[in-house]
Amino acid sequence: MRKKNKRKKVLVIHGPNLNLLGKREISIYGKTTFTQLNNLLKKEAKKLNLSLEVFQSNSEGEIVDKINSSLGKIDFIIINPAAYTHTSVAIRDALLAVKIPTIEVHLSNIFQREDFRKKSLISDVVIGLISGLGIDSYLLALKAVKNLFK
Ligand code: DQA
Repeated sequence: MRKKNKRKKVLVIHGPNLNLLGKREISIYGKTTFTQLNNLLKKEAKKLNLSLEVFQSNSEGEIVDKINSSLGKIDFIIINPAAYTHTSVAIRDALLAVKIPTIEVHLSNIFQREDFRKKSLISDVVIGLISGLGIDSYLLALKAVKNLFK
């Protein structure tokens, strides 16, 4: 009997205000809406044979809770912590605690913007960082996840 290949479980976490994508600072974050982005991610995940869960919260504590509860359930995290990128020791510690491999993504190039955005508190605890490619930052991260599991 052939063994069933279990699909890897990927969790995409969107931080604060990303729910307003497509309406919010379009010149920086683009026209694609939050719903459209998630639909594109679902389509890409299906193509790559990955199981996908999407989570968004405007609250730091809820993001920490979500990372905590992913322990033993999720194989890979793709996270855009949005503004919490630059401030959250708690999200950094949560990622260190669960040790789930993670890719950090940003729509904009955080290194080209205000000085306070140039520092990420999670970049040194993730596998890699994709920043500045708009929604492709997320789609490329999914492709990278697939390749990392090969
Ligand atoms: C962002 C960049 C952050 O500085 C900002 O606070 C965001 C979005 C990005 O995807 O480019 O909300 O993470």
